[in-house]
Amino acid sequence: MDFAARIDAAIGHAIQQGQRAPSPGKLASALHYTVTPGGARIRPSILMSVAAACGDRSPALSDAAAAALELIHCASLVHDDLPCFDDADTRRGKPAVHKAFGEPLAVLTGDSLIVIAFEVLARAAHHDPEQAIKLMLILGNRTGMPNGICAGQGWESEQEVDLSAYHRAKTGALFIAATQMGAVAAGEDAEPWEELGARIGEAFQVADDLRDALYDAETLGKPVGQDDLHGRPNAVTEFGIEGAIAHMREILTGAISSIPKCPGEAMLAKLVTKQAEVLTPIKWRASKHLTPGE
Ligand code: IPE
Ligand code: IPE
Ligand code: MG
Ligand code: MG
Repeated sequence: MDFAARIDAAIGHAIQQGQRAPSPGKLASALHYTVTPGGARIRPSILMSVAAACGDRSPALSDAAAAALELIHCASLVHDDLPCFDDADTRRGKPAVHKAFGEPLAVLTGDSLIVIAFEVLARAAHHDPEQAIKLMLILGNRTGMPNGICAGQGWESEQEVDLSAYHRAKTGALFIAATQMGAVAAGEDAEPWEELGARIGEAFQVADDLRDALYDAETLGKPVGQDDLHGRPNAVTEFGIEGAIAHMREILTGAISSIPKCPGEAMLAKLVTKQAEVLTPIKWRASKHLTPGE
């Protein structure tokens, strides 16, 4: 099975567990609605790639880690779209969960997905209990306070915003979780994989700022111009469009140099190079390819 199929199956299985009798029907439907069809699933794909690069010693644990990570991401989006946060009506080209099911069920959908994520890891723990505990700790650290998405969203309620702490927690956290959980699921240490995740996350945030400024809502499947609307600091205001693209490529060049020694090192370098192209807005693609050492 390829990565996408494994991720899909693991997420589907996790959601089915949450939908078992005696589950309330609307909340059960909202769980399915939130993860189907998924988005780009970039975080679990990175996790699987790192696990594969490290030998994928325990595929069932990698599958569980990938599903858990994506469920946390999906939960964060459901909460992020609520009127008390970004008040966004659409997500992935369809009504946001609170628009389709109402606010109480959207709050509960996010809550349920977060809990299911940790249950998935607990259920897979027998494959390698020691590594599974590490996976839960990494995911908890990158979801909550002070290093996780909760912290990232929390910065939006502060008068003075530490921009790098904000981005690192809001977006970087789950990319760090992706690389570290991939390594840990394969039996490796987490620590050497932090920089790669942090760099991919930082580049992804710049790419998201570019998309927010350049694309239309139909293409993205969610509202655009949000950074301007909410007065959020972002890479396009800071560097301009060409500058932001150059900055993103520079970050990814550094990402390639930070890949730890492992059997799949060359494969990961290729993957990051490909990401640089994918993350570049269409009009600017292929004008300047990122190559290792550039
Ligand atoms: C959107 O993430 C939220 C950010 C952190 C910028 P993605 O762009 O990965 O969203 P999906 O999962 O593909 O919809
Ligand atoms: C959402 O961030 C990422 C979370 C941590 C919830 P944004 O609000 O910047 O991203 P979009 O534009 O809604 O996807
Ligand atoms: Mg937001
Ligand atoms: Mg938002």
